[in-house]
Amino acid sequence: MSAHDTTEPTRRDFLYIATGMAGVVGAGAFAWPFIDQMRPDASTLAVSSIEVDVAAVQPGMSLTVKWRGKPIFIRNRTPKEVEEAKAVALGDLKDPIARNANLPSDAQATDADRTASKDKENWLVMIGVCTHLGCIPLGQQGDFGGWFCPCHGSHYDTAGRVRKGPAPENLAIPPLSFISDTVIKIG
Ligand code: FES
Repeated sequence: MSAHDTTEPTRRDFLYIATGMAGVVGAGAFAWPFIDQMRPDASTLAVSSIEVDVAAVQPGMSLTVKWRGKPIFIRNRTPKEVEEAKAVALGDLKDPIARNANLPSDAQATDADRTASKDKENWLVMIGVCTHLGCIPLGQQGDFGGWFCPCHGSHYDTAGRVRKGPAPENLAIPPLSFISDTVIKIG
C-alpha cells in the first residue's frame, strides 16, 4: 500500500463525512425556529401587567407603550372620532366582533364595546398589531381616519375596526381597567 492510499479517505469515509455534515446543517436549520418559538420573550417574563398614567394625553393625542413585547396604542379620541365610530352600522363592519378581552368573546363591535370604559368612551386601547400578518399600523391615517397598515393596505376606523383591506379582524383590545381616573392597568 502506498503512502497516498493511506492518507486519502476511502469513498465510504467520504460519504460518511458528507452525510454527517448534512446532518449537522439540517439539524441546525430545523432546530433554530423551534427553539426560537419556545423561548419566552424576555419582556413577557419581566412584565405581565403595566400601569400607564394617561393624564398628559390630551384629546387627539396618542401614546404607544410596550406590553408583553407588543405595541399598545392608547388614544384619547376627539369627540368627532367618537361620533364617526358610533355612526357606523354594525352591518357595515367587516368583522362584527368586538375582539375585546374584557368582554364575552361574542360581544359585538359597537363603539361602546370597543372603548376602554363605558364612562370614558374617548379612550381606545388596542394591541397595535395588524391582524393580517402582524405589521404595526400607522395612526390617524387611511380611508377611515383611524389606522392604516401599509404592508398590504388594511384600513381601520376610529374604533380600530377593520373596514377595508386583507386584515380579517379588528385590532385586538387587551385586558385592561382604569385603576384611577387617569391610570390604565393593562394586563
Ligand atoms: S400586515 Fe397589515 S395589511 Fe398585511
